[in-house]
Amino acid sequence: MSDDSDRDELVVAARHAQEDAYAPYSGLGVGAALSFADGTVVTGSNVENASYGLSLCAETVAVAKAMGEGHRGGLQAVAVFAAAAKPVTPCGRCRQVLNELAALGDTDPIVWCANDSDVVATRLSALLPQAFGPDSLS
Ligand code: THU
Repeated sequence: MSDDSDRDELVVAARHAQEDAYAPYSGLGVGAALSFADGTVVTGSNVENASYGLSLCAETVAVAKAMGEGHRGGLQAVAVFAAAAKPVTPCGRCRQVLNELAALGDTDPIVWCANDSDVVATRLSALLPQAFGPDSLS
């Protein structure tokens, strides 16, 4: 899960997820797609709320869906898509939420952040260095 076709496939999945975003307040629909070692892809989109602070980011929704379906690790890649001027990187809370799932399988997923014209590649460990995770409690 690291060549160009893998990247493009996951970005397309995130773009499709973005079409289901519920973002009437910010107007910024975001889609996220998670790729797992077993070949499955789980997507999510942001879900806003009239009580703005209760809104859920696309990455958090995707992690909740994946963990609710039984995934515990194996997270190899993440794509985030938004039709913003610059590719959107996961917010701080989403970095922490993604880290929990990644840490369970001891992976450091590549993170592709995309808009209509660009894809920026990074790693979760670069976005969240020295992370606090499950091991930190032992
Ligand atoms: N948003 C995400 O879905 N993911 C991020 O990583 C950054 C922000 C959403 C939250 C809110 O619904 C909208 O983008 C504007 O902040």
